[in-house]
Amino acid sequence: MTIQSLGYIGVNSTQLDQWRDFACDVMGLQDVSSDLGDAHTQFYKMDYHPYRLFVQHSAHDGLAVCGWETNNQQGLDEVAAALTEADVAFEWADQLLISKRRVQNLLSFTDPAGNQHEAYWGVVSDFKAFNSPQGVPGFVTADQGLGHVVLPAPNFSETAQFFTEILGFGLSDLMKLRFTPDPEEPIKRLWFMHCNRRHHSLGLLEIPHPAGCIHVMTEVNAIDEVGRCNDRRIAADIKLSGTLGRHANDHMVSFYMQSPAGFDIEYGAEGRTVDDWSRYEVFESTVPSFWGHDFSVGQQD
Ligand SMILES: [Fe+2]
Repeated sequence: MTIQSLGYIGVNSTQLDQWRDFACDVMGLQDVSSDLGDAHTQFYKMDYHPYRLFVQHSAHDGLAVCGWETNNQQGLDEVAAALTEADVAFEWADQLLISKRRVQNLLSFTDPAGNQHEAYWGVVSDFKAFNSPQGVPGFVTADQGLGHVVLPAPNFSETAQFFTEILGFGLSDLMKLRFTPDPEEPIKRLWFMHCNRRHHSLGLLEIPHPAGCIHVMTEVNAIDEVGRCNDRRIAADIKLSGTLGRHANDHMVSFYMQSPAGFDIEYGAEGRTVDDWSRYEVFESTVPSFWGHDFSVGQQD
């Protein structure tokens, strides 16, 4: 598999100050913008990578890009070859973008649903320890990447096929959803896919979304850190989108909150990993969670 993990995400923001408060005060990420950023771009660190999240000033709020990590130039060349063979347009980055992303080489492409992606290799790291302003001891990253992202994919079949057949993601599990009790409402498909031992790094949901993203998940090392983040969320008056619960697919204990970009951040712990996907049985869930995760709170004013 050429794509190894979700390496970074980029966000568009009309109000950079809101993101600084949210990322540092609530999520507990380390602001490294004074080292890496400029007046229009903020960078946030979660681990030994130079950053895992960047936020750039924009005329609109939403997800800008998902950055997918490959091991080396050969891995990136394999991504380029797969895109070429499938007749999918992509662009090799110029030196300016490569140095801005702090990688060795990078290419950009768009998936069939219009979501923007980058693939790269070779992050530039000074190996400074992660130092959370909120005392978060650490996030679960390394070979599992920064977490997972769930993207809108109204043209579902085409988009799911793109990730599984062209980019080599494996299907982990799936759901078929209706958002109302109306049996006439068309079913929306939700697929969860893996590219490493994290249960899923990518989800696709068969709806459009104005923020270009349903949610991004970050995982901390202990359940107490999930509770502490929820305390900080309450103190900062950040809207809860989904109550605490444990997911049936990745076993994550998490809650959801609304980021300043209009998509949710899922903040969790105790996610499971799968070491041997050849022995894993793909399944369909009829419920998202063993318990909790009441998403109706997000619909209330
Ligand atoms: Fe999630």
